[in-house]
Amino acid sequence: MNVYDSERIAAMLEKHGLTQTENVADADIIILNTCAVRAKATDKVYSCLGRIRRAKKESALLGIVGCVARESGSDAFRRIPELNFVLGPQSYHKLPEIIKNPDIKLLNIDLGGLEKFDELPQMEKSPTVAYIPVQEGCNHCCTYCIVPYTRGRELSRPFDDVIADTVNAAKTGAIEICFLGQNVNGYKYTDEKGNLFRLSDLIRETAKLPEILRIRFTSSYPTEMTDDLINIFGTEPKLLPFLNMPIQSGSPRILKKMNRPNDLDAYKTIVQKLKNVRPDIQISSDFIVGFPDETDEDFAETLRIAREIKYINSYSFKYSPRPHTAAAIMPNQISEQIKSVRLQQLDAQLNENQREFNMSCIDKEMICLFEGNDKTGRNLVFRTPYMQQCIVEKPDHEITPLQKIKITDANKSCLHGEIIK
Ligand code: 5AD
Ligand code: SF4
Repeated sequence: MNVYDSERIAAMLEKHGLTQTENVADADIIILNTCAVRAKATDKVYSCLGRIRRAKKESALLGIVGCVARESGSDAFRRIPELNFVLGPQSYHKLPEIIKNPDIKLLNIDLGGLEKFDELPQMEKSPTVAYIPVQEGCNHCCTYCIVPYTRGRELSRPFDDVIADTVNAAKTGAIEICFLGQNVNGYKYTDEKGNLFRLSDLIRETAKLPEILRIRFTSSYPTEMTDDLINIFGTEPKLLPFLNMPIQSGSPRILKKMNRPNDLDAYKTIVQKLKNVRPDIQISSDFIVGFPDETDEDFAETLRIAREIKYINSYSFKYSPRPHTAAAIMPNQISEQIKSVRLQQLDAQLNENQREFNMSCIDKEMICLFEGNDKTGRNLVFRTPYMQQCIVEKPDHEITPLQKIKITDANKSCLHGEIIK
């Protein structure tokens, strides 16, 4: 989501005659696009602002946008007096106002709903992978999560607007579309005639675009995985056989406290249905360890489900208490030390899953998306349909964005392969 926002901010400022620089000391305007999901991300913003304010030109405008801006509000100006603007994730399209009037302090952390999408310019050149938001906000009140506060209630964008974005992305260079939403599979839009559109409709329509060769979406909420969406994995070959469907914990007791779906059998049934229509599908998850009151037994259930579902490409986090959330004031908060031990144990399991899956890919042929050169410049980096990195020696012939690659070797973190001509 933040990649999308940053791309649009850059495009918007380019329309106002600015160009991008990597060098803080050269910049006339410096913008930090920020994430508030865990305390560490928020802390990083302020330490980074401390460095930037010393390195920047005196005349340069400095500001923050995104969820930390919304969380901090005017307090951000108190903490960093050099700040010129503080704009929430739904008001960063107001950024040009500060260029027109650099003498004001611009604060806007309103929840403007979908308004920003009408104001943002279309991209003139798209990256190979185009991220396209289908909704803003989230209605699931997971008790640990700050997102419903920072991004507001869930709103699905009009079907035609999302399709207009995918068509533009296809025409300007995209090959892969990744639909985005905090609750992406809950996408629902009813037009004026009463027609209901769901994520499966967006996928079907996008798959008709000849330029688009791969489609994926993130992040899915387990109980919103409806049969129309499950079945499209079986009928639409452009949809990648990979699904991010976070479970967060393997303990029904903790899931209940998280206000998450806590019926593990129902979750496993969805996974099985997906495998029935797409036997090669792999699932990824996000996990939180050390949620308030999590016992060793609860955590053992998380390890068990990670092993059982054989999740790949997963993310694991120590629970981080956030302002405006119910879990932050729950009793029996877990010590940092226990959280660290549990995180290490879970990561060991997730790494083992990843290593096993990567090894199982050896000798297989996969159609992979070209991403760029590696650090040495001698190799090319590709992304497999399962989002693994695959490293290939640079060939002496031209390559196309999608290449068939034979996997020759693997380890826990990546694959190696050869291009098949
Ligand atoms: N502490 C730790 N991890 C969190 N996440 C969301 N809120 C918190 C929190 N307070 C994680 C969840 C979510 C991912 C985007 O971030 O795992 O799926
Ligand atoms: Fe946060 Fe995701 Fe839960 Fe929504 S579904 S409240 S974004 S963790």
